[in-house]
Amino acid sequence: MIVKYMLRTVMRHHWLLVGVCGWVLLILMFISKFINVSFRIPDGRTEMFVWTMPSVRMKLPSTQQLDKAASQPFIVPSGYSSLVEPKDWQSVIERRLELLSTVCRNSSLWNLTHTTVHRFVLDRIFVCDKHKILFCQTPKVGNTQWKKVLIVLNGKFTKVEIIPENLVHDHERNGLPRLSSLTEAEIHQRLNSYFKFFIVRDPLERLISAFKDKFVKNPRFEPWYKHDIAPAIIRKYRKSHRDDGESVGLRFEDFVRYLGDETGRQHLDRQFGDHIIHWVTYTDLCAPCDISYNVVGHHETLERDAPYILKAAGIADLVSYPNIPPGITHYNRTKVEHYFTGINKRVIRRLFARYQGDFSLFGYPRPDFLLD
Ligand SMILES: *[C@@H]1O[C@H](CO)[C@@H](O)[C@H](O)[C@H]1NC(C)=O
Ligand SMILES: *[C@@H]1O[C@H](CO)[C@@H](O)[C@H](O)[C@H]1NC(C)=O
Ligand SMILES: *[C@@H]1O[C@H](CO)[C@@H](O)[C@H](O)[C@H]1NC(C)=O
Ligand SMILES: *[C@@H]1O[C@H](CO)[C@@H](O)[C@H](O)[C@H]1NC(C)=O
Repeated sequence: MIVKYMLRTVMRHHWLLVGVCGWVLLILMFISKFINVSFRIPDGRTEMFVWTMPSVRMKLPSTQQLDKAASQPFIVPSGYSSLVEPKDWQSVIERRLELLSTVCRNSSLWNLTHTTVHRFVLDRIFVCDKHKILFCQTPKVGNTQWKKVLIVLNGKFTKVEIIPENLVHDHERNGLPRLSSLTEAEIHQRLNSYFKFFIVRDPLERLISAFKDKFVKNPRFEPWYKHDIAPAIIRKYRKSHRDDGESVGLRFEDFVRYLGDETGRQHLDRQFGDHIIHWVTYTDLCAPCDISYNVVGHHETLERDAPYILKAAGIADLVSYPNIPPGITHYNRTKVEHYFTGINKRVIRRLFARYQGDFSLFGYPRPDFLLD
């Protein structure tokens, strides 16, 4: 009897509480319409994750996780195609690293691992000794901005905004040394102890972006792309030279045929030198299976990844990542479809075969809509 009475009282209070909370919420929502409350920190980035220092670099997945990964080789850990964003960004980063190490260990088929890190990779990695950071450059994902961040940290300039655009890529003068400029012992010491990161994006969007930037727009006035590289690719890969000659410039289809030609392109690649950094695989650029990176950022979630990286590297109080224009990081399937329209499926499949490692390592979904 008494128990029943108490229970009823508790229930009544419970409903009262829910009711009050509801009203408070409604009132708050109403007020916020007028005073425009913005739960943002001053630099404009919303911070919702709890920060903990990632001192443990990479948790190796258990055999159980391995089995799970085997049945889902293309899980997307980045939140890249999902609307629900995890609150705890740290766990997103950890899942990316777990996937990376799982795929790396299973990749004997794809030649993703090497016994030594090649000079080509050491040339891609920039060094900030003052804050013990290594950054592997992967073009077309906001690298210029990261280089500016590191240039400021190295002390050549005080603010990201005042670095002249033409100086960022001038490696004689920007005060940003490459790992390859150090001795072997110095390289090893840094690889073993520094904070290391790089950024990736959907492999096909990346190729489209490289094509547009180097062969269509060429905003940095780098004439060799249009005058040397494009004609060499056209000569070898354009199917019919009769109709338009070389005057129309490189077509995306020519580019795709070149990229997917596993054996034939190697002679050209040697001829093109370091310019191929704009389209060779992330695996070739940064050796993610040989170097244990602390963070792999995703362009698609750069709004979350950039502040995370600054904190993880311990430099969030010293620099900020430049503003990210809204919308530029979103994956655009319509654009990808548009570029590949009219290209033979066999040619696209050959291209995919070459970049399959990048898709799997970083959790990007296989583009079924182009391949099947
Ligand atoms: C709130 O204010 C900011 C600028 O302070 C403005 O950009 C934004 O549109 C405002 N939001 C609403 C809902 O009025
Ligand atoms: C390992 O590679 C094989 C062949 O590519 C693939 O079928 C399998 O799903 C992969 N397993 C894992 C754990 O990634
Ligand atoms: C892997 O590398 C070896 C030696 O470099 C080569 O013979 C083989 O064809 C490569 N396999 C693939 C799938 O690229
Ligand atoms: C996606 O790309 C298409 C074609 O390039 C463009 O028209 C469209 O505006 C883009 N969509 C978004 C959301 O950026």
